[in-house]
Amino acid sequence: MASNYDNSASFYDALSRLTFGKTLIRSQVYLLPFIPEKAKVLIVGGGTGWILEEIAKVHPTGLDITYVEISAKMAALSQKRNAGNNSVSFVNNPIEEVALSTDYDVIFTPFLFDNFTDETLPGVFYHIHRSLKSQGLWLCADFQITGKLWQKALLKSMYFFFKLLCGIDTTTLPDIEAQFTKHNYKKKSAKTFFADFIISTQHQKS
Ligand SMILES: C[S@@+](CC[C@H](N)C(=O)[O-])C[C@H]1O[C@@H](n2cnc3c(N)ncnc32)[C@H](O)[C@@H]1O
Repeated sequence: MASNYDNSASFYDALSRLTFGKTLIRSQVYLLPFIPEKAKVLIVGGGTGWILEEIAKVHPTGLDITYVEISAKMAALSQKRNAGNNSVSFVNNPIEEVALSTDYDVIFTPFLFDNFTDETLPGVFYHIHRSLKSQGLWLCADFQITGKLWQKALLKSMYFFFKLLCGIDTTTLPDIEAQFTKHNYKKKSAKTFFADFIISTQHQKS
């Protein structure tokens, strides 16, 4: 995909704190206790990598993490993070082009799918889905529209900003939950944040 977060890497975290306070962090940290000990974890779109430090607080050791990030600048910032004694392999490529093994225990996609559309999401979802073991867990945090006008307005302005800055072409949110349903996942838990604008889910593969 042509879009790239390089242009926002240096201030992405500050901007997200300005808009959402600590909610984006809380929505992802909520998911971390679901990661089992010694799990093999695939993280896609981890941004500047702060999530690695949060993971280390919950799981200081024993995880085998593959960290895939399309933006070279985001990936470089991530590599400076303290991931505790967990092992992290960094891959600076679009996830669609990464040959993945098929034995991950956990997939983590934090605010990745809002970069895709209803046309492009099924392909990337299926690609990631194939890498997860049977009974494996998929932890996902992203935006959702529950009918409130302000949500639509805020989402629109975010897309406008990232189109100008990073060439992100997306203008509407894809239906993420429909992909989990299509691939027979069981929803194990869900929690909403920021007056329902953000949803964090834990799904189990059949
Ligand atoms: C909205 S940002 C979220 C960053 C981080 N998860 C956070 O919450 O701070 C989306 C991230 O996904 C990355 N990304 C977008 N498309 C990707 C792709 N096809 N493959 C891998 N990473 C991708 C972007 O570079 C960016 O860092």
